[in-house]
Amino acid sequence: MNKSLENTYQLKISFNEDVKDSVINFLFENEVHSFVEGEIDQLDLDPSHDKGLEEYNLLGGDKSPLSIYSFDESFLLALFGRLSSLFAKQIALVLTCQETSTWQEGWKSNFKPIETASFRIVPPWEKSSQQKDNLSEIVIEPGMAFGTGQHESTQLCILALEKLFADGMTVKGPSLDIGTGSGILAIAAGKRGFVHNYGCDIEIDAVQVAKLNGLTNGVELTLWQGSLDKRPNDLPKAQLIFANILLPALKELLPEIAQVLLPGGFVIMSGILVEQSFELEEQAKTLGLSFAFRQSRADWASLVLEKTT
Ligand SMILES: C[S@@+](CC[C@H](N)C(=O)[O-])C[C@H]1O[C@@H](n2cnc3c(N)ncnc32)[C@H](O)[C@@H]1O
Repeated sequence: MNKSLENTYQLKISFNEDVKDSVINFLFENEVHSFVEGEIDQLDLDPSHDKGLEEYNLLGGDKSPLSIYSFDESFLLALFGRLSSLFAKQIALVLTCQETSTWQEGWKSNFKPIETASFRIVPPWEKSSQQKDNLSEIVIEPGMAFGTGQHESTQLCILALEKLFADGMTVKGPSLDIGTGSGILAIAAGKRGFVHNYGCDIEIDAVQVAKLNGLTNGVELTLWQGSLDKRPNDLPKAQLIFANILLPALKELLPEIAQVLLPGGFVIMSGILVEQSFELEEQAKTLGLSFAFRQSRADWASLVLEKTT
């Protein structure tokens, strides 16, 4: 297997907006659960051993790029092949490689602290030595796991959490973060007073990164690898659930989410586009989950549902 941690590979996919949903669904069905969208130019890897640069230029460069990063070149090569045959002239693909240490430096220069009403999300090198204001700091080490706070879908989940508290929610039970990535949302829940914070991710790397981020932030996370179907038998019902994953997974998970939510509890979902949130809202009606609110940022939406029965 051609997988070492020394090199990081980037598969950059550029496409016109009309095939975006199909490309994202394809990625999801092919075990790609996290990617970076849009403004990634400064992160682009060394194009000297590129594959596909010619077609990429033909398509007019960055139409709507997204990038998948992996240590595993053969996995990305296989994706490259399948995407090229399926989408032929509709997309352009470039596979590049960079030493992981250089790639991490690239990330660093792109990492700007994010501030919300109650949090400041920072990488370790921006950590404050003393309390500056009343914002609670979340320190996230950018690793290979999704969840640096830079993505709109993560920010929407945090905004929704803040809105629930602003609207009068008080802590009465545990939190659960499905698709925890870096652990950022579970940590945010811990910092806002949830005492027991559970999380899971299908990626083992994410579980490890989340565990470490939890320790760095003084929030103990109880984590497992896998999805809700692999949950421990003694997992208590949650008062608050986050699920920032893509639409197909959310649709599949929603019945189980309804089962593990406490009455009066909320689920905050994101990773979806505004129009997709209506589809989930419809499905929720059959499961005893009622609409609480929806928020959006750029194309992304969050949908918050309350368990009413
Ligand atoms: C968009 S990231 C969200 C990360 C983080 N929670 C955040 O909000 O920034 C989605 C995460 O969900 C994980 N994932 C995808 N499908 C999943 C599933 N069915 N069950 C659990 N985790 C899943 C991926 O591995 C990825 O880490």
